[in-house]
Amino acid sequence: MSKLLLINGPNLNLLGVREPGIYGQTTLKDIEDRMSKFAGEHGLELSCFQSNHEGSIIDAIHEARNKFAGIILNPGAFTHYSYAIRDAIASVDVPVIEVHISNVHKREEFRHTSVIAPVCEGQIVGLGISGYKLAIIAFMERFESISK
Ligand code: DQA
Repeated sequence: MSKLLLINGPNLNLLGVREPGIYGQTTLKDIEDRMSKFAGEHGLELSCFQSNHEGSIIDAIHEARNKFAGIILNPGAFTHYSYAIRDAIASVDVPVIEVHISNVHKREEFRHTSVIAPVCEGQIVGLGISGYKLAIIAFMERFESISK
């Protein structure tokens, strides 16, 4: 069974409480439960990890080598300046899809840049928590086309 890793970065542990007008009412636990169920229904196993610390996210990306077929990553604010996370992604042979709940392009200027995007397979932005589901679908279709 193909395994996916969902990584959520800083402050995303406060989803549901944090700026609900921007990020919605759904908690991280809810997202993780729903996405694990959705992945399971489509023959994929999803593991979930959240950290507020850059180094822990880097460790999780390194440890994904030879364990996970893909990573769904919402790096939170690290998106905009963490060259270390970008280098971690570039260092491992695991495809990454970057997800943002909010439309970062409609927001402050500093959110318009992702230093992570150039080393990712793709980026899903502004579609709320559906973005996580769309990333699972993208991986699913990718694995199906590889196995054909
Ligand atoms: C975010 C967008 C980032 O700019 C912000 O720092 C976050 C959440 C999003 O999911 O919309 O923490 O990644």
